[in-house]
Amino acid sequence: MEFEKVAAEGEIASGQLMPIEAKGLKLLLARVGDRYYASQRKCPHLGFNLCRGKIEDGAVVCPLHKAKFDLETGRIERDPRLLFIGMKAKTDLTTYPVKVEEGAILVGV
Ligand code: FES
Repeated sequence: MEFEKVAAEGEIASGQLMPIEAKGLKLLLARVGDRYYASQRKCPHLGFNLCRGKIEDGAVVCPLHKAKFDLETGRIERDPRLLFIGMKAKTDLTTYPVKVEEGAILVGV
């Protein structure tokens, strides 16, 4: 695994999500306080762009069917729903390690 610079610390505020790319993969970068998280950008349910979602209690919520994934582990915390119809995401979210060095955010892929 190699770490690749994806952003500078000042580019993302706490509570925000932003699209990044590392090794040609389209990923999501999230910040909660002073902690950073990286994961796949497509929702494991139907592939919606999770950068358009929001952060809730350390998890990312997909705006399309409200599935919720823990940003640290990628584990699904809430299944997707459409009105009263319950659905299942195919997998958990794939997450990637993040570190900060000299003001740069690096993701391991
Ligand atoms: S596409 Fe994300 S919850 Fe359905």
